[in-house]
Amino acid sequence: MKNLIVYFSRKGENYVSGAIKTLEKGNTAIVAEKIQAFAGGDLAEIVPVKEYSSSYYKCIEEAKTELHENARPKYRPLDIDITQYDKVFLCYPNWWGTMPMCVCTFLEDFDLSGKKIYPVCTNEGSGMGSSIRDLKRICKNAEVDAGLSIHGARASVSDGAIKEYLDAL
Ligand SMILES: Cc1cc2nc3c(=O)[nH]c(=O)nc-3n(C[C@H](O)[C@H](O)[C@H](O)COP(=O)(O)O)c2cc1C
Repeated sequence: MKNLIVYFSRKGENYVSGAIKTLEKGNTAIVAEKIQAFAGGDLAEIVPVKEYSSSYYKCIEEAKTELHENARPKYRPLDIDITQYDKVFLCYPNWWGTMPMCVCTFLEDFDLSGKKIYPVCTNEGSGMGSSIRDLKRICKNAEVDAGLSIHGARASVSDGAIKEYLDAL
């Protein structure tokens, strides 16, 4: 059985340690690639069909609307045979205190029953927020780990934290 590292990440403008910066690669993408490098496995990206705005403030509003509507945004088809995997590293940014709604779409599309889910959440200070609770509510028959929170601004220097987390599993 293999590891699946699945992530959603948004590049463009973001709020980083108190200032708006433009990211060439999203923080969560950086972290997900490190997990693949250290733990091995297949990497899959959740790419929403309708791109979120690259403007930070517009994206904040788009994400708020989706959360309030409990939306399930569609993403580009993922060629994943989920039966090949027993461990799923689910990597996402904290948006409004939980997972972006397109991650919920993914969780409802694939049957993760009986699998171990390792949530990895990049954020600007809210940690995992309510994402673990929300994840458990959607993936009732999966084993959901307490997960790893990473400060988004420190994504590129998170090797130590990631290795420590993986070693403890
Ligand atoms: C729409 C939106 C909502 C966010 N909400 C939160 C939040 O509630 N708490 C928090 O700590 N960070 C929040 N952030 C910051 C992101 O979680 C953080 O920058 C993350 O590392 C971004 O990952 P990415 O570059 O992979 O998209 C938010 C960012 C965006 C764009």
